[in-house]
Amino acid sequence: MKILGIESSCDETAVAVVDDGTTILSNVVASSMELHAKYGGVIPEIAARSHIEAIIPVIDSALLTANTSWSDIDGIAVTYGAGLSGSLLIGVLTARTLAIIKRKPLYSINHVEAHVYANFLTSTPLNRYVLREKSPLFPLLALIVSGGHTQLVLFKNHGNHKILGKTQDDAIGEAFDKVAKIIGLAYPGGPSIANLAKSGNSSAYVFPKAKMTNSYDFSFSGLKTAVLRLAQEQIGEDFNFPSKNIADRLSEPQKANIAASFQRIAIETVVDKTVLAYREFQPASVVIAGGVAANQELRRQLTDRLPTEIEYTDPKLCTDNGAMVGCLGCFQAIDHRDQADAYSLRVEPSLSM
Ligand code: KG4
Ligand code: ZN
Repeated sequence: MKILGIESSCDETAVAVVDDGTTILSNVVASSMELHAKYGGVIPEIAARSHIEAIIPVIDSALLTANTSWSDIDGIAVTYGAGLSGSLLIGVLTARTLAIIKRKPLYSINHVEAHVYANFLTSTPLNRYVLREKSPLFPLLALIVSGGHTQLVLFKNHGNHKILGKTQDDAIGEAFDKVAKIIGLAYPGGPSIANLAKSGNSSAYVFPKAKMTNSYDFSFSGLKTAVLRLAQEQIGEDFNFPSKNIADRLSEPQKANIAASFQRIAIETVVDKTVLAYREFQPASVVIAGGVAANQELRRQLTDRLPTEIEYTDPKLCTDNGAMVGCLGCFQAIDHRDQADAYSLRVEPSLSM
């Protein structure tokens, strides 16, 4: 069962060939990140235009690397939401066209759910991947932490899940990106904060953890504001001082201490809730998914605090990629799930799980 997975929900044009939901035959990612970096965030029009330029060469490259021709492809899986509408459109229209021309079944994929499926990939002939040894077992508790989403989801089986809680405002990745901007670090902020935090003292500053009515819900906007207020205070200014002028006045040790203290609390917040959910629901496995799952501090805290073993996938499979989409597509095909209509599949920018 070979599925071509196409992902274009944000700034990555990503295509992979996945076999049987376990094996990555190719995983090609072209990112327009560099074009957005100077603006400090993704510019939707630039992302959409970059997808148009990249998508056909990336598909060709994924087929070539997988040593696969169209006749060997059993289906096409494509992300149809959530994401930026212009970006999603390029992937979906390309997938629809190919499904019609090449006469392949089409599977519509939820981006957030696909992130979880990066954990099912356990083998590859490709170099430079460190995958999990085993696929996770059900019931499965998933902590999904990305730039657009933060949620705890309990999967009873493939396609059968319940959201335990989710963010009521910012996503955790968004908080990393915003804090990075305040202290003058490069976009995307997650890796920049993680890197600088290594030289900082994570107990230098005390930031608050949000208290929620549903203990599995999240909130990160208060933490981001607490960082802003502390940074203003550190340079001797009040809350009216513009955030874009703060970074120049902070010393390198102050920036490193803010990065480390923020990261510790943000990560502790999601780990607290994951441990709580593990105790309540006793799942057979726990997985982390989404861009922030690449964070080493998250992996360290979870390994320390979860009363069960947890395996992690390659950080390259945590950020947006085609392999996770191809993987979920394989399971949909294997389960004979409804195919999407290649003549009418629409994008759903606000799709939730
Ligand atoms: O899953 P993803 O690639 O895109 C979305 O679906 O949102 O996640 C991107 C997010 C960004 O906010 C980025 O700053 C964050 O993941 N991120 C990280 C790390 N690598 C990426 N956050 C913390 N630590 C990292 N190492
Ligand atoms: Zn994502």
